[in-house]
Amino acid sequence: MPLVTSKEMLQAALEGHFGVGAFNANNMEQIQGIIDAAVEERSPVILQVSQGAIDYAGLGYATAMVKTAAQEADVPVVLHLDHGSSYAQNVVCLRAGFTSLMFDGSKLPYEENMRITKQIVELCNPIGIPVEAELGKVLQSRDNVSEDDVRAAMTDPVQAREFVEQTGISSLAVAIGSVHAMQSAEAELDIERVKAIRAQVNIPMVLHGSSGVKDESIAEAIQHGICKINVATMLNQAFIRALIQAHADMPDNVDPRKWLSLSRDAVKEVVRHKMRVFGSSGQVTGSGYASAPKSFRTAELGHLE
Ligand code: G3H
Ligand code: ZN
Repeated sequence: MPLVTSKEMLQAALEGHFGVGAFNANNMEQIQGIIDAAVEERSPVILQVSQGAIDYAGLGYATAMVKTAAQEADVPVVLHLDHGSSYAQNVVCLRAGFTSLMFDGSKLPYEENMRITKQIVELCNPIGIPVEAELGKVLQSRDNVSEDDVRAAMTDPVQAREFVEQTGISSLAVAIGSVHAMQSAEAELDIERVKAIRAQVNIPMVLHGSSGVKDESIAEAIQHGICKINVATMLNQAFIRALIQAHADMPDNVDPRKWLSLSRDAVKEVVRHKMRVFGSSGQVTGSGYASAPKSFRTAELGHLE
């Protein structure tokens, strides 16, 4: 089916207390692995493309591959810009046909983050494209961050309320204890902070840096308003590990398809597992989302299809 926006998908997740995985993809095999998992799990899915992925694949290829994948799938698929770095980057992706955008102004002073986010929302609102923004900072593991650093960068609940009201964003990326690009899932989220933000903010919240977080902690956060869960590092690890294993098993092979199809399968298995953890498996029914209120199922399906 054609791409859908993340607006209805995340609203259904919020109301149905499940999470939608937003999986980063850089190449065709990763996109196919993610989509195959979504189709088999009957799960809605967000395919997200970062600035790095755009630099690697090219905007045209990245967009066309995700659109083709969505077209061939019978579950709802969103094409999302991950960590959009500027107003211009968001405009370019909007024009390319992305159905969900993000401006990451978390490194900017608060007022500047708010100003640019608001400009992007004003551009996208009239045409129904939702915008995610980040408040607080989800740090990078390569910067050797300490627990104190992570705590100091967390989202302030009262400031979050003002930010959401002033900007009109559709979803808010929150800093609640995760760190980007961790190599193993050992962190626990600050669930009390998730609840405190949720008490101030009524839009879906987004978890970044989920590869470093324990499954149980993610599942608990979903019960308190985390609706979109970004997954990247874990997929890259699965892809590379399968490739290394394939090389070891078939050292004389010269057909890239024989190795890459194993990486594709490895990505698919990780995504399937995550969809079960997030509770999105089985949410796509013949008549909409299984856990969403009935009114949503009947009212919104026409739009999705
Ligand atoms: O925006 C992308 C994510 O936040 C991915 O984080 O690489 O730690 O899974 P991760
Ligand atoms: Zn992120």
